[in-house]
Amino acid sequence: MSGFREAVIDLAAVRANVSRLRDVIGTPHTMAVVKANGYGHGAVQVARAALEGGADWLGVADITEALELRNAGITAPVLAWLHDPDADFAPAIEAGIDLGISSVTQLRQVADAAGSLGRVASVQLKLETGLSRNGIHESAWDEAFALAAELEDAGTLRVLAVFSHLSNASPADDADSIASFERGLAAASRAGLTPELVHLASSAGAIRIPAARYSMVRLGISMYGLSPFSDATSEDLGLIPAMTLRGRVASVRRVPAGAGVSYDYTWRAPVECTLALVPLGYADGVPRQATGQAEVRIGDVRHPIVGRIAMDQFVVFADQHSIAVGDEVVLFGDPATGAPGATEWADAAGTINYDIVTRIGARVVRRYIDSEPRTAD
Ligand SMILES: Cc1ncc(COP(=O)(O)O)c(C=O)c1O
Repeated sequence: MSGFREAVIDLAAVRANVSRLRDVIGTPHTMAVVKANGYGHGAVQVARAALEGGADWLGVADITEALELRNAGITAPVLAWLHDPDADFAPAIEAGIDLGISSVTQLRQVADAAGSLGRVASVQLKLETGLSRNGIHESAWDEAFALAAELEDAGTLRVLAVFSHLSNASPADDADSIASFERGLAAASRAGLTPELVHLASSAGAIRIPAARYSMVRLGISMYGLSPFSDATSEDLGLIPAMTLRGRVASVRRVPAGAGVSYDYTWRAPVECTLALVPLGYADGVPRQATGQAEVRIGDVRHPIVGRIAMDQFVVFADQHSIAVGDEVVLFGDPATGAPGATEWADAAGTINYDIVTRIGARVVRRYIDSEPRTAD
């Protein structure tokens, strides 16, 4: 029996996806990206499943997320790469968390924190290679690399890796970024740095650009079973979507032709028909922008959502089908089961599948299952 509002997370799917991606990509190391509460799936649970599936690193944006993994007893290597300007690096260094470094200032801050603790910080230098976000700018590479080498010699820190991130804008743009990254690696080497790890690609680059794989890839969306590409489905990639968002029909009513539905009456019943109320809304991450576009599955039948998606609820056009209070409603899940996919919702809302799963709200209970091992191909 499904809950009132729940996201069911299949940890066997996460394990299978990591294992499948490792087979295809073949790098010596694999980082499972579990930032933003594991893209809405639950960081700790997904991290454990990904490690069981063969990942050997975990990646998060900030230190708070990294410490959450440590506090849950996860001892695997963790990298955090986006820091508050006044971040206190000491707890991260004490917890053995690798710190992504995006500026000379940050390098000094981490060195100071490591010096006061009497600990060696493990750092990974992030290079700006095209995204214009964080990362050490090319004009500062020589200074940063020289300082890092000096601090390494002094025993304050170890430069474990050099890394960057691709825009996936186009093959030509990615080739430019790879060329820039190569210049950075050469400059780091000239400065005497000997990183054990070099990493550049997230899911899209890891799957489609062998030259971007280096010694590790950072897998987010693909590990959750969703495709990073608009021209390939999960199934095409042999991936299994891990999250199913579902609820239960809260009420059913028969309305006459012409009845208005939900705010603004953007939809009116064309004929006398049955409507079903589903207790999930935009507070739960159901995108309001998908109003008039999205479908859900009840039993074996797909039904359109009609009228505005509201904060806590939306209405489904049941036509003449028999739907009962308490029936299970699947908003999205594995399309192989006949359910709409997260990507279908993303298309309906004019966004990307990352946004659909990551935005699922706190009110939605996460329930973890371990389905029978299976593969999508
Ligand atoms: C630096 C970095 N690496 C890897 C990833 C994972 O990307 P994806 O989910 O496309 O695999 C992200 C996510 O945005 C990221 O910011």
